Amino acid sequence: MVELEKHSEIVRNCKMGVVEIGILNGDTTKILAQANPAIPVYGIDPLIPDSMNPDLIGSEENIAKNMQGLKNFYFIKDFSYNVIKNWDKAFDYLLIDGSHIYEDVRKDFEDWFPKLAPGGLVSFHDSTMNRGGEPYWEGPSKCADELIYDPRVDLVGSVARLTIFRKKQ
Ligand SMILES: C[S@@+](CC[C@H](N)C(=O)[O-])C[C@H]1O[C@@H](n2cnc3c(N)ncnc32)[C@H](O)[C@@H]1O
Repeated sequence: MVELEKHSEIVRNCKMGVVEIGILNGDTTKILAQANPAIPVYGIDPLIPDSMNPDLIGSEENIAKNMQGLKNFYFIKDFSYNVIKNWDKAFDYLLIDGSHIYEDVRKDFEDWFPKLAPGGLVSFHDSTMNRGGEPYWEGPSKCADELIYDPRVDLVGSVARLTIFRKKQ
């Protein structure tokens, strides 16, 4: 899948670490952790019903299965807005895929962006619906559209449902 290939390419070039907000069962996280075993991958998720589909709930069992043997993966079972309060670990890739409600997506970005290394990348899943992408999802799409004009970042590009930005040095 083209998004997973893009994640892998990004993570192979990372030097510090990766944070994924919203991991569900860790399907994407597994790809991130496999792409660069030399750096830590932090997956943050309280495992609540998904904001797009309440029938979808991740489980620790599925996460453990996906992450079997991957020693660079760290699961943090909590809300992103709690975890950021005491965060002290370096990372140069941030994948935002938690709550898809606009205010929550924006908060995830504003909370976590200051901790992202200068020159690091931040991507939003389900964020291309106003730019020719699939119809997922209003919140992340609005947030990504706004950031195109934000002086703190440069738009790197879109891949399928993913929009990627670079934090300016
Ligand atoms: C769309 S799913 C994630 C899919 C996953 N990234 C993947 O590629 O398979 C959204 C997840 O976000 C989680 N979530 C919701 N609010 C969150 C928050 N404030 N912090 C972290 N995760 C959150 C939900 O529990 C759910 O598992």
